[in-house]
Amino acid sequence: MRKPLVMGNWKLNGTKESVTSLVKALIEPAAQATNVEVAVCAPTIFIGLVEDLAKGTEINYGSEDCDVHTSGAFTGENSPVMIKEFGCKYAIVGHSERRQYHNETNEVVAAKFKAAQEADLIPVLCIGESLAQFEANQTTEVCKTQLQAVIDLCGIKAFEKAVIAYEPIWAIGTGKTATPEIAQNVHAQIRAYLASFDKDVAAKVQILYGGSCNAKTAPELFAQEDIDGGLVGGASLKPADFAAIINAAN
Ligand code: 13P
Repeated sequence: MRKPLVMGNWKLNGTKESVTSLVKALIEPAAQATNVEVAVCAPTIFIGLVEDLAKGTEINYGSEDCDVHTSGAFTGENSPVMIKEFGCKYAIVGHSERRQYHNETNEVVAAKFKAAQEADLIPVLCIGESLAQFEANQTTEVCKTQLQAVIDLCGIKAFEKAVIAYEPIWAIGTGKTATPEIAQNVHAQIRAYLASFDKDVAAKVQILYGGSCNAKTAPELFAQEDIDGGLVGGASLKPADFAAIINAAN
């Protein structure tokens, strides 16, 4: 039985004040949703603040990215070991915005996945296709290639301590949520691909859906067999909306 996970990805948003009120507003919904795990991924500069606010609550937290190195002359980067020191459970790796704006290849993403695991963080591996790839029927192929880079570097067993987030790029921030049928179909194919290497690992890994997941679209998405929760962008910044999404998963 896979426990649902609802994770916010705040992206490049927030102030000390808004982060404080947002985390405080999530304490109650997270405590009440006993069947779902709640997590927020924050800009690195706010992680220390989230650590203080989340202490003693049911709120887990993580980073939105991490470097492949643990220390050294890499100006501006954030080491997974440092991220772990601040109590993070998760590190998102391979978000499409990182792939697009920072030219992160599948190989770089796989290296980040590995570095996160070595620092005892749970990587949340984001995969998903562009609109052009979706229209060309290349979704499965794209997702398989993105998964394969991690399997090649880390092995299939690495997915015992990882989360996958399927985020079709055309659905991110556009209000065009993938239909539950489309999302379920892709999630099932992702799971089947992992099962071709290891059935046990495939059956246990949480696969989240991301891309305009909101209070309205979440219930039907989360009702699908292979959708184990959501990675939520915009709606995770609005406490009432995020609470409704948490409820839907509960
Ligand atoms: P939106 O929920 O704003 O579409 O963002 C999804 C996302 O990119 C989460 O990582």
